Amino acid sequence: MPGDDARRATRAVRDGAIEITTMRRSHLRGVLQIEEDAFPRPWSATLFLSELALRTSRSYHVARIGPNVVGYCGVMFGDGEAHVTTIAVDARWQKHGIGTRLMLNAVQVARRAGMRHMTLEVRVSNEEAQSLYRRFEFQPVGVRPNYYSEVNEDALVMWVHDIDSEEYGSRIASIAGRIRSLDTSSDDPLGSQTPQQGDSA
Ligand SMILES: CC(C)(COP(=O)(O)OP(=O)(O)OC[C@H]1O[C@@H](n2cnc3c(N)ncnc32)[C@H](O)[C@@H]1OP(=O)(O)O)[C@@H](O)C(=O)NCCC(=O)NCCS
Repeated sequence: MPGDDARRATRAVRDGAIEITTMRRSHLRGVLQIEEDAFPRPWSATLFLSELALRTSRSYHVARIGPNVVGYCGVMFGDGEAHVTTIAVDARWQKHGIGTRLMLNAVQVARRAGMRHMTLEVRVSNEEAQSLYRRFEFQPVGVRPNYYSEVNEDALVMWVHDIDSEEYGSRIASIAGRIRSLDTSSDDPLGSQTPQQGDSA
C-alpha cells in the first residue's frame, strides 16, 4: 500500500469516518471497481442489481469513507440460515478493520432476521479471509472441489451455528468493543486489546 493511502486509511479509522450503510444502485460504480480488483471472475452490475432487487431474502451493505465505497458485503437468507454471498475491501484500505466491521454488520443483520446459522465458501488458499471468518467462529466443515473453476481451486465450506444464542451475542459484542478501540490504538487492535462489552456497530 503506498504510504499516502496507508496514512489516509489510518487517519480515517482513527477519526471514526467509516460508515456502514445499505448498498444502493448509486454505490455500484465503487463496488464494481473493488469487485474487479478482488476477484478473477467479478460479478457484473446486472448481477448486483438482481441481488439488490431481492429485498426480502438479501441484505447488501457498503462501507463508506465520505463518498467513497471502500468495501461491501452481501448476505442471503433462507430456512434459518444466512449465507455470506460476497465480501471485499478495497486493497488500499485492507487491514484496518473494515472487513471485520462488515462481517459484524452481516452477523447482526442475520440475527435480527431470526437466522440461527451462517455459512460461506472461501478459497482454500485465502488465509486472510479465513482468519476473518474464524474470528466470528466460522469452522471449516468440508471442501467443494474445483468450486472456483476459473482459478482451478477448491472451496472450503465454513459454518457457524447458534448465532442467535446469548453466548454468540457476547462474542460479537466483544468484537465490536475491540473495533471501537481502533480509535485509540494502531497496533493490531483486533488481536491484543482487552475485550469490552457493548452493543453492536
Ligand atoms: C478478506 C478481506 C475482506 C478482509 O478485509 P480487511 O478489511 O482487511 O479485514 P480486517 O482489517 O478487519 O482484518 C484483517 C486483518 O487486519 C488486522 N487489522 C485490522 N485493523 C488493523 C490495524 N489498524 N492495524 C493493523 N492490523 C489491523 C486484523 O487483526 C486482521 O488480522 P488477522 O486476520 O491476522 O487477524 C479482504 O482481505 C479482501 O477484500 N480480500 C479480497 C476479497 C476476498 O478474498 N474476499 C473473501 C471472499 S471469500
